[in-house]
Amino acid sequence: MVFRYKRERNYDKIVLFTGAVYPNDFFGGKEVDSYNNALNFWNQVFEMSDEEKEQFLKEIDPNGWKELAPSEKLRDIVTEHLSGCEKVLDYGCGEGWAGISLSKSGCKDVTAVDVVENAIKLAAFLGEAYGAGEGFKAECVSTDWIAEEKDASYDGIFCSNVIDVIPEEIANDIIKNIARIATQDAKIIISMNYYSKEESNPEKGIEVKNGNEVYVNGVLRMVSRSDEEWSGILGKHFNVEKIEHFSWPGETKEARRIFVLRKI
Ligand SMILES: C[S@@+](CC[C@H](N)C(=O)[O-])C[C@H]1O[C@@H](n2cnc3c(N)ncnc32)[C@H](O)[C@@H]1O
Repeated sequence: MVFRYKRERNYDKIVLFTGAVYPNDFFGGKEVDSYNNALNFWNQVFEMSDEEKEQFLKEIDPNGWKELAPSEKLRDIVTEHLSGCEKVLDYGCGEGWAGISLSKSGCKDVTAVDVVENAIKLAAFLGEAYGAGEGFKAECVSTDWIAEEKDASYDGIFCSNVIDVIPEEIANDIIKNIARIATQDAKIIISMNYYSKEESNPEKGIEVKNGNEVYVNGVLRMVSRSDEEWSGILGKHFNVEKIEHFSWPGETKEARRIFVLRKI
């Protein structure tokens, strides 16, 4: 818990580096710089030094995995729906809190993937630290990985705060592939940030482009859509069974969204 909160507080202090991690010809070059910036940002967010890891292991509470999740309500909904599944994918896993929680809650086969290396290094470290077991696999993958997974290969899929922090075309491609790789009766949960009608505020480093893309200090941090807008997008591939709301610690309103989905 201490670690997560420390990481979140640091989100806006990160200095970007300029290495390209995405193929330059993706979408004919369109949006590449902005997406690379975002991936560089996430790579820095999930960096944990050897000293921090050492300290973390000294202080570790064996039940601390329960507090990796950004919200108890979100964790409970995820484990309630997905821990009974046979093969679960945590797509865009970050530090792997969901996959680790599912493994610790009894799921025997969990694959947690992300496209940035530091997220996966951290997920593997935390998985081992909390004894997630052999059924928890953390893999750094390319952005093409999901398109190459076999049809109907997961009966549980979780994807949290990924498709609303990346460019629209990439998000649509991921949504389509999540539907394709899910079994017909799969349980699918996609969670999102809150909806906010942000306006540009140069003093705070906030710039809104194309009506709903929120950049903070030049980094795409959110593509803000209402529940209805997301339901329309997700509804092309899924029945939206339920939308639950939750908050992160310190937030006064439950405005973050959990879409509980079934493949059409
Ligand atoms: C806001 S973080 C969310 C992490 C985690 N799911 C959570 O809920 O804490 C967004 C994550 O999406 C990952 N990401 C961005 N583009 C992706 C893609 N095309 N495929 C998979 N993951 C991606 C980033 O690397 C980052 O780890």
